[in-house]
Amino acid sequence: MKLSTKLIHAGVEPDPSTGAIMTPIYQTSTYVQSAPGKHKGYEYARSQNPTRHALETALALIENGRHGLCFSSGVAATDAVLHLLAPGDEVICANDMYGGTYRLFTKVYEKMGIRFHFIPMQDPAHVKAHINSNTRLLWVETPTNPLMNIVDIAALAAMTRGKKILLCVDNTFASPYLQNPLDLGADLVMHSATKYLGGHSDVIYGCLMMNDDELRDRLYFIQKSCGAVPGPQDCFLVLRGLKTLHVRMDRHCSNGSAIAHFLRSHAKVGKVYWCGFEDHPGYAIAKKQMRGFGGMMSFTLKDDSTETAMKLLSSTKLFALAESLGGVESLINHPATMTHASIPREERIKNGLSDSLIRLSIGIEDVDDLIDDLRQAIG
Ligand SMILES: Cc1ncc(COP(=O)(O)O)c(C=O)c1O
Repeated sequence: MKLSTKLIHAGVEPDPSTGAIMTPIYQTSTYVQSAPGKHKGYEYARSQNPTRHALETALALIENGRHGLCFSSGVAATDAVLHLLAPGDEVICANDMYGGTYRLFTKVYEKMGIRFHFIPMQDPAHVKAHINSNTRLLWVETPTNPLMNIVDIAALAAMTRGKKILLCVDNTFASPYLQNPLDLGADLVMHSATKYLGGHSDVIYGCLMMNDDELRDRLYFIQKSCGAVPGPQDCFLVLRGLKTLHVRMDRHCSNGSAIAHFLRSHAKVGKVYWCGFEDHPGYAIAKKQMRGFGGMMSFTLKDDSTETAMKLLSSTKLFALAESLGGVESLINHPATMTHASIPREERIKNGLSDSLIRLSIGIEDVDDLIDDLRQAIG
């Protein structure tokens, strides 16, 4: 099956008891057994739920993986991966990543004895130089949040293959419609399904997809033991979101391209960060590993002051000033004070995330209306 067909049909069977075409929301905490240990594969809803099961199957198939596991948030999915590690283990990750992931790594796991190397990951040789006998995990975001840097997944996979090092890719920005890290050799894919997979800004949700059976069993054990599982209503919402991912992503990409070019040609705009520009340093890799460039971008103004950026952020009418991304509606965000506030200022500035940087999540509205809104807000 091609991806567009999988998005609609994968994992979804008519309900055996009624024929309902949509997977029912199994709002139950437990399942009746006919005798101790005699049941229909479902014992207790933290361990198994049919709505979640349908979604886990669908998610695995759309990332071309064998297994999927769902969590109550993207951060909970990340947390499950970190639970695979032990004190003394080391992680290599980007110096430009989602602020909540940075906070989890530095404030929760560093004090448990895990060591993190926050480095630019665009150059595989630079990553290789940081690998040592304690390295157990490469944590990759590509494109990165919010500077849209591109990391070469296949090059890193070639480095970790056959070693005791897991390569996990946070594929939230690209979505499975644009990029499939397992096909490029990654061991694990993580999504904040809150974003493009859900697609309608109405759910907080996370997932992991993988091929390896043993890795799946270890993560399933963590999922049920730590208990950060999603409710069935949220599983239903993500299942429904998946069905339109392909048509939404096409529009996110075309609107994204038009707006990136509009911003770049605007006299008052400074730098535009969008991986679809041919002169973007990661363009060749993005073209190789992605099927489109998505709807995420960041920019600065020529008047590079926090004050001017703040004024713009409060002046849009269609772009809503809000955290998050990947929904049908366009959002505008100030990473320094919103999504990336948990990264210390010196660290942020050193890595190129300036106080005036503005991030856009381009929705699927009419692109002319979006451009008009930005034009009036920039002034
Ligand atoms: C790239 C990325 N990864 C992970 C997360 C965390 O996901 P959640 O908010 O669903 O916990 C986010 C949230 O913004 C994100 O943007």
